[in-house]
Amino acid sequence: QCCSTEDRQEMQALWHEIWSAQFTGRRVQVAVSVFEDLFEREPDAKNLFKRVNVDDLQSPEFKAHCIRVVNGLDTAISLLDDPFVMLHQLEHLGKQHQTREGVKKEHFALMARSYLKVMPQVSSCFNADAWSRCFDGIAHKISSY
Ligand code: HEM
Repeated sequence: QCCSTEDRQEMQALWHEIWSAQFTGRRVQVAVSVFEDLFEREPDAKNLFKRVNVDDLQSPEFKAHCIRVVNGLDTAISLLDDPFVMLHQLEHLGKQHQTREGVKKEHFALMARSYLKVMPQVSSCFNADAWSRCFDGIAHKISSY
């Protein structure tokens, strides 16, 4: 199954709800919570983020990393309406990840589960099916370069 027009609109609407309606601090905390959950599922993954001070998830370095990641997701979600530009954007993100030794496809599946856990806590109308169909498509593209 793929990310249909309705799924896209659903994903964009619920992202908009947490993205635009909330101040930056909230966005960062969403990303920090996702990483927290990811590291509970896969403690070894912490080693990948040493450069951004993963030992202190509330440190400025790790928060800045979280902003980069969540901005990357924001860009991808905006581009759901523009598949050709999207493809190049995700290829670019994919290459950035490919150069990071130790980032595996399985990490993306784990991160997908972390988002599924965190998003309902911050979104009042979370549609898990629509979200997953779009998120998995985005993650699949990033992880296949
Ligand atoms: C860095 C986005 C999933 C590991 C980044 C950056 C972005 C990003 C925008 C910053 C790139 C730069 O400025 O150099 C995303 C998005 C994801 C995703 C949108 C999912 C949809 C993952 C997953 C892993 C991962 C699943 C592995 C657990 C990393 C690492 C870095 C990174 C190791 C570099 C950290 C550093 O600066 O040292 N990601 N990412 N990412 N990402 Fe991801």
